[in-house]
Amino acid sequence: MCGIVGFAKSDCLKDTLDALQLLEYRGYDSAGVAYLGNGEIVVVKRKGSIEGLRRKVGRKKTDLTIAHTRWATHGKVSTVNAHPHAYGDWAIVHNGIVTNYASLRADLERRGHVFRSTTDSEVIAHLLQEGGKKGDALAAIRYTMGRIEGSYAVAALCRYSPNRVYLFKKGNPLVVGKGEGFGCFASDTPALVAYTHRVYKMQDGEIAAVGKREILFWREGETEGGRRTFGTTSLTLSNVTKGDYATYMQKEIDEIPSTADRTYRAYETPPMGWKGAEMERWILVGCGTAYHAALLGASLCKGEAIVASEFDADAMQVDDKTGVIAISQSGETADTLKAALDAKSKGGYLVAVTNVPGSSLTHLADEVLLTLSGAEIGVAATKSYTTQLAILARIAEWLGYRKPTPSPLVPLTSVLSSSATLAEVAKRRWSTIFLLGKGRDYVTCLEGGLKLKEIAYLHCEVCYAGEIKHGPLALVTRKTLVVVVCTDEEALQADLCALSEVRSRDATVAVISPYDELCRAGDHAVRLPDGKGWEQAVGIVPLQQLALWSALYKELDPDRPRNLAKSVTVK
Ligand code: M6R
Repeated sequence: MCGIVGFAKSDCLKDTLDALQLLEYRGYDSAGVAYLGNGEIVVVKRKGSIEGLRRKVGRKKTDLTIAHTRWATHGKVSTVNAHPHAYGDWAIVHNGIVTNYASLRADLERRGHVFRSTTDSEVIAHLLQEGGKKGDALAAIRYTMGRIEGSYAVAALCRYSPNRVYLFKKGNPLVVGKGEGFGCFASDTPALVAYTHRVYKMQDGEIAAVGKREILFWREGETEGGRRTFGTTSLTLSNVTKGDYATYMQKEIDEIPSTADRTYRAYETPPMGWKGAEMERWILVGCGTAYHAALLGASLCKGEAIVASEFDADAMQVDDKTGVIAISQSGETADTLKAALDAKSKGGYLVAVTNVPGSSLTHLADEVLLTLSGAEIGVAATKSYTTQLAILARIAEWLGYRKPTPSPLVPLTSVLSSSATLAEVAKRRWSTIFLLGKGRDYVTCLEGGLKLKEIAYLHCEVCYAGEIKHGPLALVTRKTLVVVVCTDEEALQADLCALSEVRSRDATVAVISPYDELCRAGDHAVRLPDGKGWEQAVGIVPLQQLALWSALYKELDPDRPRNLAKSVTVK
């Protein structure tokens, strides 16, 4: 989604654009920067790439910046709708949504304010101007926070406060960084690690003033600014850059064995204070890939999985004997946060499975189980999925539904090299791809289908192996690729039947399975290693690779697919 970055640092315009580039992975359609130069606020913004913005900005000297990548939600993609938005003494960048912007705007217009953009965000600059008439920046911010509804992370430059960038937030993340003689901030820690590892994640309702030498914070109602203890992020620059890889997605797929192994080993026993044994039932929620992890987790933990945006704690009769596992790589997905809040409001025991320490989800949860994936930059969730499965396997063990196994390191390492046969398949232009599986393999198909759609823009149908003959078979032609995933011997006969049904309609068939009989029946086959209890974690890898290669053959950028963002912080 949108990204924010900025500095209070000598001659920091280049640093700002470099750091903004580290946020490109979140997805964006326009970008902009504002800086203070000779006492004036200068705004430069444009539709399109950060490289283009860099050319437009040129080389200017400034010690104070705010910058933004926008992923349009309110107002079309255009230069005027790009952030920063400036009005009077203020310029702002904003992540989130101001839900009451229409009435605020109408009111401000009645009072003579002239708006330039069609965004919800611009009202923030106007409110700051309105509330700061006495030259008090803090009062202006409080005035604004008291009026806007919805969610926000805002960075603001103020002409009459030329040594600080102001930050305020509710519901959207903001991280402040501190270095030797400079301060910086971003919506995401990876943007800062080239500059500092000392970070503080702002709390909802907090205001910060970031200067070169001093960073002050105010909680609601406080008049005196205070200091905060900054922690140390374990992210390194090599975690957040591609190194020798052409794409983040390939790098992150290659990191699957080590990260799943590390995560599984880290949770041999439940954390202190684990209340799982007291729960009478389990509900697992998530969106997209995290929902697919929830589906597998539900089957492991004898619970129920539900898409976060469909979750209704009241209707589902959540109570203090209900464990709710909220799964989210980013810990910032709005739909998942809403479900988590809803579950908490009914007394549910909220367990967060997330990759981002200090994310909004961790603040809501009774128990936080961190996946140890390291930064996942590619928009496609790959290594985060397998680490989520590792934690869900551990929860099933703690609940007595699964026996501990050796870590998934060996089968995952082995599967990485067995998918090469799919490279040929990826070269062809298919009109439709069917993914067929039974039981838990069906979930692997759902996740593989999501990858093929989002990264390679391929039309996919995911179907239970036994269901294809009940209708979807009508779509199968010689231009159809059918991928059959089978990791369960009991599903073999059903999968063989489905395979012959599609073969007799001239489809091309690729098989992903450890079973010879099925592999021999396909036109292409990925022979899976013995999954040793990790069949679903192993089975997804060839599909992730198929999606990646398909994208690359189509000359698409798998790291930044169109219309999508890494973390979806709007409902
Ligand atoms: O950060 P989250 O895990 O909460 O994100 C949820 C989904 O938006 C995410 O998994 C999405 O489906 C991925 N891009 C899929 O690759």
